[in-house]
Amino acid sequence: MTNPSTTRTQVAIIGAGPSGLLLGQLLHKAGIDAIILERQTGEYVLGRIRAGVLEQVCIDLMDEAGVGERMHKEGLVHGGFEMLYHGKRHRIDMNALTGGKNVMVYGQTEVTRDLMEAREAAGLPTVYEAHNVSIHDFDSTRPRVKYEKDGVEHTIECDFIAGCDGFHGVCRASVPRNAITEYEKVYPFGWLGLLSDTPPVSDELIYVNSPRGFALCSQRSKTRSRYYLQVPLTDRIEEWTDEAFWQELRLRLDDEGREKLVTGPSIEKSIAPLRSFVTEPLRFGRLFLAGDAGHIVPPTGAKGLNLAATDVKYLSSAIIEFFDEKSEAGIDSYSQRCLRRIWKAERFSWWFTALMHRFPEDGPIVSKFQEAELDYLLNSEAGSRSIAENYVGLPLNFGE
Ligand code: APR
Ligand code: PHB
Repeated sequence: MTNPSTTRTQVAIIGAGPSGLLLGQLLHKAGIDAIILERQTGEYVLGRIRAGVLEQVCIDLMDEAGVGERMHKEGLVHGGFEMLYHGKRHRIDMNALTGGKNVMVYGQTEVTRDLMEAREAAGLPTVYEAHNVSIHDFDSTRPRVKYEKDGVEHTIECDFIAGCDGFHGVCRASVPRNAITEYEKVYPFGWLGLLSDTPPVSDELIYVNSPRGFALCSQRSKTRSRYYLQVPLTDRIEEWTDEAFWQELRLRLDDEGREKLVTGPSIEKSIAPLRSFVTEPLRFGRLFLAGDAGHIVPPTGAKGLNLAATDVKYLSSAIIEFFDEKSEAGIDSYSQRCLRRIWKAERFSWWFTALMHRFPEDGPIVSKFQEAELDYLLNSEAGSRSIAENYVGLPLNFGE
């Protein structure tokens, strides 16, 4: 049994998801020390299957953090994606429409693994299975974090607390209710996802608007596919056999897709709800929220991880500026800078979701609106460019 301890660090990071780990790495590169507290085990964190499309800004951050090597080797560069509606496919040539920008298909699990390994190799402290984490005095210049490990209470004294603890974390929940505004929209359907070791049905991603509901053909590698189906929120995962999944996917695809689809046993299958959620502000004295702790997007367009990465970029720059230049300008503008970018990605993800899904409350006229909008967007260079520009991700300093 260890005794209660008090440790000092510059930044206490709560949560070892991609946000917390990336922040830890960027701070380490700048010579700032941090301790990460994570409630789960490392294996549990790596077991969560999430999206896998990285924007250029996120790719650059992985490089800046010194963890981009495997991503460049194994990640797949995509210069376009397809949209299928009315039984016909249309390609969005992102690369041509954005003056040469691409995205990288590389799973969030891999991003997390690379960051975890780099942290371990550098000997940086992460406390897994840290229980009852609580945050204190973040309205002062001497915040503290308490947690329990193996039944023993520990205290961390720090300069800043980074709340990277996801949607269900303790940090946002610790802010006085009258200091925070939350905006939320919950969608009336979920995404049933299936991962399989089968070659992807197409080289590029296919977003499908079909009368039976949305579908997405994604991938993790040349031999691993990730597919999604829009399903009612009342569906239970036990009811969906692999065979039923493949059958429904076939019905939502076009002839070419049905012909080329290679099926196989699932290695993961789950239903995720869809939500748009934003907290304002993201800074409370010496506490900062980053990633899913501050905002959630529906997965259409894969903006979640990318937004988390850019929050972390703004936050690490602000903290580095504070310690190196004794300037509070970065921490003072953190919330506003992040939110400006967040709302644009929220807007895009909401719009793309509305364009591609069947909403139970909508009648046939809305399907006609969607069809007309898709017909317009995909046959107009301005329309297609707008989709492409948002999909590859707006520049970090957009509008500044
Ligand atoms: N104490 C310690 N750790 C906690 C606590 C707590 N009270 N609450 C939550 N955590 C941990 C979770 O176990 C999780 O590992 O915080 C981590 C948060 O990680 P994520 O949920 O992955 O959030 P984030 O790092 O911001 O990553 C955002 O994940 O959900 C996707 O679409 C999202 O891709 C985006 C990315
Ligand atoms: C995924 O591969 O999991 C994925 C890809 C693109 C999306 C959402 C999810 O828009």
